[in-house]
Amino acid sequence: MATEPTAAAAGNTQLLSLRGINKSFGAVAALMDIELDVAAGEVVAVVGDNGAGKSTLVKVLSGVHSADSGTIEFDGQEVSISSPAAAQHLGIATVFQDLALCDNLTVVDNLFLGRELSPFRLNEVDMEVRSWELLKQLSAKIPSVRTQIASLSGGQRQTVAIARSLLGDPKIVILDEPTAALGVAQTAEVLNLVERLRERGHGVIMISHNMADVQAVADRVVVLRLGRNNGDFRVGDVSTEELIAAITGASDNVVTRRSAARSTSQETTS
Ligand SMILES: Nc1ncnc2c1ncn2[C@@H]1O[C@H](COP(=O)(O)OP(=O)(O)OP(=O)(O)O)[C@@H](O)[C@H]1O
Ligand SMILES: [Mg+2]
Repeated sequence: MATEPTAAAAGNTQLLSLRGINKSFGAVAALMDIELDVAAGEVVAVVGDNGAGKSTLVKVLSGVHSADSGTIEFDGQEVSISSPAAAQHLGIATVFQDLALCDNLTVVDNLFLGRELSPFRLNEVDMEVRSWELLKQLSAKIPSVRTQIASLSGGQRQTVAIARSLLGDPKIVILDEPTAALGVAQTAEVLNLVERLRERGHGVIMISHNMADVQAVADRVVVLRLGRNNGDFRVGDVSTEELIAAITGASDNVVTRRSAARSTSQETTS
């Protein structure tokens, strides 16, 4: 894989490129001709109304569903993501909306569940040290790694789930509605975490319904509508009203803006 360290340091190495992705469930076309690009150190928000295809896209990328057709390039190579293990092996980690944490276990137990450091014996000390390191890198506000998940706030749980996703050292981290159930302060905490991920050079795909969160943290916003791309905007060049128009299909100038955004992104990636 001929990735250039200089480009990586500048944060613009293309990590993931989807082209012409289709996925149907029987008669329902959930994804049609979808394109998506994510670079290292870039936060791409994927927004869209209910049923737009966001979760289906996440599932295609995380190996839960395979696409019917289209190509996925990861780190410069065409790949097929045929299972969750394949996604993990490539370096695509997903934090699903339900987080999949065990309430009755501690933070450290949740972090290492299923991937205990020693294959024969749990090395409790190593796991605890690694947990602290990881949470510290994320500037996470967790009282103790021995705390039970049940006693953490929603934001802290999200933090643990994100930290857990980082243990396999992924290149891409996908967050499905990371702030959906959170209050103001906890949302700010999770958005800070997303910035840490960008600083560490991960490509981040963030599914969100919240335009304020998207505007606060994303570099680009990709809009899906009825299973198709309906806009690719640079944050800073787009207002919340324009985003909502693209999400609901109320705007006529979306297509022009989309092609404008696409030609600038082609300039930067070529
Ligand atoms: N396993 C499935 N079987 C059949 N149809 C499905 C399945 N998963 C998704 N769909 C359909 O595909 C379309 C896209 O659904 P998807 O869950 O991806 O939307 P979404 O953008 O995540 O919506 P929401 O914001 O409500 O989560 C919908 O019409 C949905 O009913
Ligand atoms: Mg969904």
